[in-house]
Amino acid sequence: MATLGVNIDHVATVRQARGGSEPDPVAAAVLAELAGADGITVHLREDRRHIQDRDLRLLRQAVQTRLNLEMACSEEILAIALEVKPEQVTLVPERRQEVTTEGGLNVPNEEARVTGIVARLRSSGICVSLFVDPGDEMIRACARTGTDAIELHTGLYARAKSERSGDAPLQALERGARLAHELGLGVNAGHGLNYWNVQPVCRLPHVEELNIGHSIISRAVLVGMERAVQEMKALMREA
Ligand code: PXP
Repeated sequence: MATLGVNIDHVATVRQARGGSEPDPVAAAVLAELAGADGITVHLREDRRHIQDRDLRLLRQAVQTRLNLEMACSEEILAIALEVKPEQVTLVPERRQEVTTEGGLNVPNEEARVTGIVARLRSSGICVSLFVDPGDEMIRACARTGTDAIELHTGLYARAKSERSGDAPLQALERGARLAHELGLGVNAGHGLNYWNVQPVCRLPHVEELNIGHSIISRAVLVGMERAVQEMKALMREA
């Protein structure tokens, strides 16, 4: 079975909405691990819209499983990654205006730059994964960079409106997973996965790790609502 990396960026998004200290993503990470998460994923964006440098440093100390840092190919963030030393770095593209990571990295377009960053991360003992759309050329280019793994972008599959329209994207993911494995790469997957569409991705060959954020944090808000309201009412009654 694939392992689950829980992406806790949205916990920080809620905190940043008020600029205070709650909810704390570090507390969320600890609870996610207690519930069985195999890893914790965060994206330290250049604009620091959710996860902050402090979060990453505290998570490095608190996370008992595996810390996976998503980051753009930026010198500033690379310096932080080399210092904090997460178990894994996933290189992603980043655009200021986007709501979330929209597409995969265009590795053939910036192969030399990606290769250099992969080498620097790996020489400091950090496992590297490249977030890419499935496609033979893309995956072959990833293999040439010396990366340990790729993370297949499941967004196209996840956005399919019906099971049938999800077939072709799912087949592309399967082909990508097989090719990556043949080339000696580890295979991760993620983006847009939820409680309804995750199982076919779990059944893909060679997939070792899924990274899931939005749907888990969304569900946590809802399944936690009843208790949160009950606790507030109890305090009011007691007063
Ligand atoms: N994998 C990568 C590389 C991502 O950038 C993201 C979003 O931050 C995810 C997985 C998780 O996507 P979602 O929040 O849609 O589950």
